[in-house]
Formats: sequence, C-alpha cells, structure tokens
Amino acid sequence: MDVTALIDAVSRTKSQADELTRRQIIDQLSGALAKFTTSPENQRFAEKYRPRGNYTRLLLNSPQDAYQLVLVFWGPGKGSPIHDHDETIGVVGALTGETKEIKYAVTRHEGERVKLARSSEFTIAPGRVTPILPGDDQQLHLMVNEEQHWAATVHVYLTSIHHYRQYEAAPGGAFQLAETPLWFDEWEVGRRMPTSTRS
Ligand SMILES: [Fe+2]
Repeated sequence: MDVTALIDAVSRTKSQADELTRRQIIDQLSGALAKFTTSPENQRFAEKYRPRGNYTRLLLNSPQDAYQLVLVFWGPGKGSPIHDHDETIGVVGALTGETKEIKYAVTRHEGERVKLARSSEFTIAPGRVTPILPGDDQQLHLMVNEEQHWAATVHVYLTSIHHYRQYEAAPGGAFQLAETPLWFDEWEVGRRMPTSTRS
C-alpha cells in the first residue's frame, strides 16, 4: 500500500466514523497501517531518509486535512515524555526499527496534577500496530528507541492534533500537565514517497 492509498483509507474511515464503533475504526486504521508499514518500498524510503535532527516529525499529508499521518524518526536512545493525544482516535506503527511504547492510565486527579500508573508495554515494529483511544486510561503513553540504530514510526490521528499535554514528573510522585503545541519539521512529505506499490 502506497502513501496515497493510506491517506485515502484514513479519509474514508474519517467520513464513516459516525457509523462505526471504536473497535471498527481501530481495525480499519490498523489494517491499512499494517499494509503501509510492511511495504518494502516504504521501508526503503525510511531507511534512506536522512533526518535533520535525532527527533524529526514529518507530516505526510496536507496540513489542511482534518486528520494527520505523521512519520517520526527516532535516533538511538531518543524518547518522548509521557503525553496524551488530545482525545483523538489513532494508531501507531513502524517502518523500521523497534520502538518501545509504555501506556499509562490516570489513577487520580489532584487539582492541576494527576497520578499515573503504567498499564502496558508494547514493541512497535513493522507490521505491529498499537491503538490510541480517547480517555484517561488509554491515550497516554511514552515511546523510546532503546536500540543502537534509527527507528521510523508512523502515527495516524483521525482528528488533527494542534495541542496536546506532556506529563512532567512533579514532587510526591504526581505529574504536572504541560500544554504543548504539536509541530512538524516538514509538511506534505507523502508527495516524495514511492507510489503505486502493491496494495
Ligand atoms: Fe504519542
């Protein structure tokens, strides 16, 4: 599946979302992302790409779209803080490498702060997709590339994210929410990706 077909699949799911259950939405997005991320042509594009920084975020589709497909490059040892996804439904997969995901659940609200508990761990690798669902218990995670080589992950957000929250460790084991704008190093990078791969 090439990038155009993936964008079409996400757009189709977005337009049908009102009639679908969350499970059906995740299944549709996961199926399309698994095909996209196991395509050798797409994997080669990620392997050959030379990111500018050791944490580089590329928007594959147009910033005008109501959804986002994001290609993220992680240098060796590079990770994200714990963060949410502004209540969107989404899926995350990988074109190269093995990136560890740790999901967290909010166990208590304390004013501006929350208590968190680790809920699960997953290795994101080509063909393996992890869901993001709205709610305090399912949309929080961190990701880290603990390997010696680069990783490239692909993130599909069914509703475009403009701001999200990072969860910063505060005294007493709580976490302080920090509102953060979502930024990209480049936009519409899908135009430079291989087309007409077999779907
Ligand atoms: Fe994330």
